[in-house]
Amino acid sequence: MSDRVQEKDAESVADASALIAPVPRITMHAFCATGATEAAIEVASKDRRLLKAQVTTSSGGLGTALNVLCDQPSPNVIILESTDDRDALLAGLDQLAEHCEAGTKVLVIGHVNDVLLYRELTRRGVSEYLIAPVKPLDIIQSVSELYHAPGTDPIGRTIAVIGAKGGVGSSTVAHNLAWAIARQLATSTVIVDLDIAFGTAGLDFNQDPSQGVADAVFAPERLDGNLVDRLLAKCGDNLSLLAGAAMLDRTIDLTENALDQLLDLLRVSTPSIVLDMPHTWTSWARRTLIGADEIVIVAAPELASLRNTKNILDVLKTARPNDGKPKVVLNLTGMPKRPEIAPAEFAKALEVELAAVVPFDAQLFGTAANNGQMVAEVQPGSKVNTLFVELAASVTGRTEPKRKSGLLAPIIAKFTRRKAS
Ligand SMILES: Nc1ncnc2c1ncn2[C@@H]1O[C@H](COP(=O)(O)OP(=O)(O)O)[C@@H](O)[C@H]1O
Ligand SMILES: [Mg+2]
Repeated sequence: MSDRVQEKDAESVADASALIAPVPRITMHAFCATGATEAAIEVASKDRRLLKAQVTTSSGGLGTALNVLCDQPSPNVIILESTDDRDALLAGLDQLAEHCEAGTKVLVIGHVNDVLLYRELTRRGVSEYLIAPVKPLDIIQSVSELYHAPGTDPIGRTIAVIGAKGGVGSSTVAHNLAWAIARQLATSTVIVDLDIAFGTAGLDFNQDPSQGVADAVFAPERLDGNLVDRLLAKCGDNLSLLAGAAMLDRTIDLTENALDQLLDLLRVSTPSIVLDMPHTWTSWARRTLIGADEIVIVAAPELASLRNTKNILDVLKTARPNDGKPKVVLNLTGMPKRPEIAPAEFAKALEVELAAVVPFDAQLFGTAANNGQMVAEVQPGSKVNTLFVELAASVTGRTEPKRKSGLLAPIIAKFTRRKAS
C-alpha cells in the first residue's frame, strides 16, 4: 500500500471515529463467547464515548446471560455473542426473551453471515447484528447509534413527584423512589431538587454540593451537556443529584420555560430523571408537571390533601388527555391518635387506585433523615422499602428482579424495540 493510501485509510478511520456521539448514562452487559470479543469490549468500555455507560462483561455467552438475567434487572443494552448456527442462535434468543424486560436493546455478535438470519433477528426486535471478529470501534459505533440514529427517542423519562400539601413527605418519597430505581432496578437516575431554595435532597443524601439546579437555570447561555455533567453530584452507583441552591441570596422567579433546556439535556443522557417538585403553583412548576412522563402525587390521609389531590388530578386530566392517570401515594397513614380518612375511602373519593400506602413511622424516617440515608439503607428488609421498590417498578414500567424461586410473577416481555430506521 502506498503511503498516500495508508494516510487516507487513517483519515477515514479518524473521520468515522470523530462522528460517533457519546453514549448516554446506560447500563450494558456483554455476554461473550470468545476471548477476542471480550477483549474488544474491554477496550471499547474504556473509550471516552462510553465513559457515562456502566459496562459489565461476562464470558459464557447465552448460558451466562440466561443465568444472570433470570434474577437481575435487565440492563439497557445486552450484547450477546454466539458461535451457534442460525437455528440454535434463534432458539437461544427466544429463550433469552423470556427473561428480558421490554425496552432492553439487544445487539448480537454472531459468527455466520446469513441474510435469512439477519431478517429473523430484525423481526424479533434485535437492534443490531455484527459479524465477528468485531473491533472496539464497531461496538462503540453500534451502541452509539442505538441512541443517536435519526428518529431515536431520547432515552430519559421524567418522573415528577409532587405533594398535595407541604410536609406530606413528597421529597422523602421522591428520594427513596430515585434510590430504588437506581439501586434495585439498576437504572441510572438523576434526582433533581426543584425546591430550589429550600430543598432537602442534599441533606437526605448526605451531600453538600456547591453547585446545582440554580447554576443551570440562571446561566442558560452556558448550559450544555458538559455543564450538566459537572453540576451532578454522585450519590453512589447509578444515582446522581442535581441539588437545589440551599441559599437565599437570590429569589427563584423563573420564567415558564426556564427548565426546558435543562430537562432536555438530562433526557438525552440519563434514563431516569426524578423531579422533586416544590409545593408551589408557579407557571414553571405547572409546565414541568404537565410535561413529565410520569407523575406521582403524595398525599396525607386528611381533607386538605384530598381536596388538593382532586384539584391536581383534574388539572392534569384536562392538560394530558392522552396520558394515564398519575400515581397517588398515601403517606403518613396510621399516625397515633390522629383521626384520618381511611385509604379505601380516600381512593374512592378520587376514583383512583392508590399506588402505595406508606405508614407513618417516625423512628424509621426520622433516623433516615437525620443520618442522610435512605430507608433502604436504614432497614433494607422493611415493608416500607418494598413499597418504594414496587413504586419504582410501576413508574418506570420496569419489572422487578425476578427471583429464581419464582416468588414474583415472571413477567414475560419480549424484545419490543425495533431498530430505528
Ligand atoms: N411515612 C413517614 N413517616 C414518618 N415521617 C415521615 C414519613 N414520610 C416523611 N416523613 C418526614 O416528614 C418530614 C417532611 O417530609 P418531606 O419529604 O420534606 O415533605 P415534603 O417534601 O412533602 O414537604 C420529613 O422530616 C420526613 O422525614
Ligand atoms: Mg419537598
